[in-house]
Amino acid sequence: MLLQLLCLCAALVLNVANARSPRASRRSECPPFTNGTLVIESYQLYPENADFDLNDCLLYIGALYNASVVVYDPYKAETVATLEFPGITRTRPFHVGGVAWDPFTNFITILVDSAVPHETADHQISGDDYILRYDPGTQEIVWSLNITEVSQGQYGGQQDVEHDARGHVYILGSYPGTILRVEPDGSIIKPWYLPEVIDHTYNGITGFAATGEILLACDPLNNTGSGEIVKFDMTADEGTPVLVPRIPNEDIISLDAVYLPPKYGGTVLLVSEHDRGVSVLRSADGKWETAEYLGRISDYASLSEGAVNTATVEISGVIYTVDEWFTDPIVNGTSAGNRTEFPLVDITSQIEELLAATP
Ligand SMILES: *[C@@H]1O[C@H](CO)[C@@H](O)[C@H](O)[C@H]1NC(C)=O
Ligand SMILES: *[C@@H]1O[C@H](CO)[C@@H](O)[C@H](O)[C@H]1NC(C)=O
Ligand SMILES: *[C@@H]1O[C@H](CO)[C@@H](O)[C@H](O)[C@H]1NC(C)=O
Ligand SMILES: *[C@@H]1O[C@H](CO)[C@@H](O)[C@H](O)[C@H]1NC(C)=O
Ligand SMILES: *[C@@H]1O[C@H](CO)[C@@H](O)[C@H](O)[C@H]1NC(C)=O
Ligand SMILES: *[C@@H]1O[C@H](CO)[C@@H](O)[C@H](O)[C@H]1NC(C)=O
Repeated sequence: MLLQLLCLCAALVLNVANARSPRASRRSECPPFTNGTLVIESYQLYPENADFDLNDCLLYIGALYNASVVVYDPYKAETVATLEFPGITRTRPFHVGGVAWDPFTNFITILVDSAVPHETADHQISGDDYILRYDPGTQEIVWSLNITEVSQGQYGGQQDVEHDARGHVYILGSYPGTILRVEPDGSIIKPWYLPEVIDHTYNGITGFAATGEILLACDPLNNTGSGEIVKFDMTADEGTPVLVPRIPNEDIISLDAVYLPPKYGGTVLLVSEHDRGVSVLRSADGKWETAEYLGRISDYASLSEGAVNTATVEISGVIYTVDEWFTDPIVNGTSAGNRTEFPLVDITSQIEELLAATP
């Protein structure tokens, strides 16, 4: 159960495109980022999820189909490294789904998931899922775990990760909605929330975001109408979902990631809704007993060009969409489509307008 993927750890390959300066000591903040929409030039990047490391001021982007992680310096507009994992990267059917900076340790948590549950209509559970803790300081894997040792192929579709102040790592799976929790040193991984019925045909929680001791998640309820937002208390030994009612109760549909931009201190939740765009929810006191539904941002270029919104990310004050082109044909002999340019669209002003419209 506690299998260490020593082969993966020892063999982690780093393709460092440009030498990086030694790691700076912990910073309190990154310089304000002022550029608008960014276009990241990277063949086959196909980003699914991304997070901005506020310690190193670098953006970590999961390349879904290649199953690699691109480390991007937005201030210099350049890729500084590509993390590749032997036996995983460019090895179908692996994906890299969730990627998150852990603000409590400065490690990066990377989720490697089997593509099969996501790409089969009834979400067949086959293939393996892994979680990796990467230390940007030493550029090494701190620990890695084989999630399939715990799930035993009963549930899957792992696609998001979160952290708490005590050092736990939380892993979200969607078929059906599950949460596993890992002890800080990677010694124990076990279920923290499992639904009463384990039925992999059911599409449960798809994304989560933590603030204080609150873990927020969005649940599409097997796509039977509107989904919902639930919250969990991370101080509990076991997770129990509690409904967060939306006021007004506008539909949230076709759900993927949720995100709490750091600039709003845990009071604004962005909900990714694939072809519908990004819904903006607010809890003015940050307790998320209810959520004000403020509106949806659905008019931006990538959406009208056929991409879907899978996530959002703030780069030091500027909030971007992360969009995926799921339908691009795979280039023969490779793992992904032929795209080389991936825009991150600046939606900061639309969010500010929605916040200002309902003071
Ligand atoms: C993806 O793999 C291709 C080779 O098929 C490589 O040329 C490309 O740089 C990779 N891109 C990323 C983002 O890993
Ligand atoms: C900022 O935007 C300008 C104008 O669009 C562009 O020329 C420049 O390369 C961008 N810089 C970065 C760091 O993205
Ligand atoms: C991960 O665990 C599964 C289930 O026990 C096993 O079949 C698989 O071989 C393991 N993967 C590795 C790399 O050991
Ligand atoms: C979930 O929805 C799918 C159709 O989208 C259906 O086939 C499946 O039976 C549902 N699963 C459960 C457990 O209700
Ligand atoms: C790609 O491979 C498929 C068979 O695997 C073949 O039918 C198709 O013609 C190939 N396409 C190109 C552009 O080579
Ligand atoms: C990428 O593939 C699409 C079709 O899959 C094709 O229309 C387009 O010309 C290709 N672009 C490049 C640069 O090869």
